[in-house]
Amino acid sequence: MVKILQKEHIVPNIHEFIVTAPDIARKARAGQFVIVIPDKYAERIPITIADWDNEQGTISILFLEIGAGTQSLAALNTGDEIFSFTGPLGRSFEIKKYGTVGLVGGCYGIGAIYPLAKALKECGNKVVCYSEARSRFLLYWNEKLESVADEVRYSTTDGSLGSKGHSHDLLKKDLELDEHYDKIFAVGCTYMMYKIAHTTKPYGINTIVSMNPVMIDGTGMCGACRLEVGGETKFACVDGPHFDGHKINWDVVLNRRKAYIEEEIISKERL
Ligand code: FES
Repeated sequence: MVKILQKEHIVPNIHEFIVTAPDIARKARAGQFVIVIPDKYAERIPITIADWDNEQGTISILFLEIGAGTQSLAALNTGDEIFSFTGPLGRSFEIKKYGTVGLVGGCYGIGAIYPLAKALKECGNKVVCYSEARSRFLLYWNEKLESVADEVRYSTTDGSLGSKGHSHDLLKKDLELDEHYDKIFAVGCTYMMYKIAHTTKPYGINTIVSMNPVMIDGTGMCGACRLEVGGETKFACVDGPHFDGHKINWDVVLNRRKAYIEEEIISKERL
């Protein structure tokens, strides 16, 4: 069990927990995740580590309150204990000097690109972040991102901040204006990552996406998180969660995401 030191409802549908987890804080790297079980009856939820403090022994996680599992998690408060909190799991992002790097974050992914931006900047890269939400009031960590990146570009579906539309629309415009990127990383909902990979493919820019399939054990044993990458079966929990977005079979990913919609509805009714 780990204790919630601080809970913040940072925007209407996203929560941040800072928890005491010194063993995880000591080993965490940008891009790794934890598997959280809110209480003994709840499901296992993979959540990207958004930040950590090795000295304080704390971990920050951000999650979208959307299904029964994340609703149970969101019901916990400062001082409560989380039933199970395992990590760090998965491989970290490959941090090195690429040149100019574009980081695209939407939803919980805005939090996930923050440690990545910090690490890539420390390696001497030029870092441009693309932060996306439906509206201005759903964007968060703007100042944190601006403090580590060379530039942060915003896009909102309603046009209330930055460019009107999605991050892939803005990135496409920038690429059409001959803006150069050596590498792109995208973290967020599956559809956003699919669109980003689709946008960068004609330009041949290596694009890493951070996949978020259903996970159970998180250690490569159950097969629940399998994906098809370059014609091979890969497990997101141990081979990823980061993969070349141009090699992913997106049809399989998008179909598998619909597999448990009915069960999700039933579990929400039972809450
Ligand atoms: Fe079981 Fe990845 S979660 S193999």
